[in-house]
Amino acid sequence: MSDGNQIVPLAPANSYQRSDEEYATIQHKALRPKRSGKCFIYSLALIVILSAIILVFAIIVKPRTPRVKLSSVAVEHLSYGNNPIPSSNMTLAAEVSVKNSNFVRFKFENTSSSALYKGMVVGEAKLRSGRVGARKTRRMNIVVKIRSSGSLSEAKNLSSDINSGMLKMNSYAKLKGDVRLFGTVKNRTAVMSCGMNLNLSSRSIQDLECN
Ligand SMILES: *[C@@H]1O[C@H](CO)[C@@H](O)[C@H](O)[C@H]1NC(C)=O
Ligand SMILES: *[C@@H]1O[C@H](CO)[C@@H](O)[C@H](O)[C@H]1NC(C)=O
Ligand SMILES: *[C@@H]1O[C@H](CO)[C@@H](O)[C@H](O)[C@H]1NC(C)=O
Ligand SMILES: *[C@@H]1O[C@H](CO)[C@@H](O)[C@H](O)[C@H]1NC(C)=O
Ligand SMILES: *[C@@H]1O[C@H](CO)[C@@H](O)[C@H](O)[C@H]1NC(C)=O
Repeated sequence: MSDGNQIVPLAPANSYQRSDEEYATIQHKALRPKRSGKCFIYSLALIVILSAIILVFAIIVKPRTPRVKLSSVAVEHLSYGNNPIPSSNMTLAAEVSVKNSNFVRFKFENTSSSALYKGMVVGEAKLRSGRVGARKTRRMNIVVKIRSSGSLSEAKNLSSDINSGMLKMNSYAKLKGDVRLFGTVKNRTAVMSCGMNLNLSSRSIQDLECN
């Protein structure tokens, strides 16, 4: 029984193999001239289609300006008071995200982001040059130290804001960079402009909104 089991499956397997080889050689000989002709037509069609696609892309795909925003802001240190003069000092840790919707990379130069209180710059943070891959989002962490000066608090009525428990602030940055499309360099400047409220009692940022 066990001998029969070993022999019986082997015989059909061999014959199948042989007939497969024969069939393949016959088919190969018969189809060779026709196939190379079809191959040429297919290649030509493919080249035409690819050229058309490239042409359409060259016309339609325009360099897009990447989107820069603050994705989060955390309060690390905060001190404020009305004596001897109204003042507020703080350290904010923020995450800047650069979203590149282009099908090519975006490269940007060194720049700085600023924190504003009623239109006056109260703090700055450097943003180092870098690149964002095609259709990628890059996140960078920045730390901004904010110190209010005496003149600022007088001119901008800081004491009433401190008494209200809420400081309204803004953040701004300009990223100069370029995208490379089909061998040409296109300059693109991405602008970040965000508004937020600092809740003094909870020591947290509320209502963060970017353009
Ligand atoms: C904020 O910093 C300034 C300068 O360092 C200092 O004079 C002021 O007392 C500080 N204010 C608070 C509330 O800590
Ligand atoms: C960008 O900033 C970094 C560090 O701040 C500096 O080393 C580099 O030289 C700067 N690049 C340019 C092009 O200014
Ligand atoms: C400062 O705020 C107080 C209270 O909100 C207001 O009465 C006052 O007119 C403000 N002063 C200035 C210069 O804005
Ligand atoms: C693009 O930006 C680079 C670097 O900032 C600058 O040298 C170049 O003149 C700009 N090109 C155009 C067309 O604005
Ligand atoms: C500030 O935060 C506290 C605590 O989370 C909250 O109760 C209060 O309503 C907030 N203030 C405003 C103006 O939203």
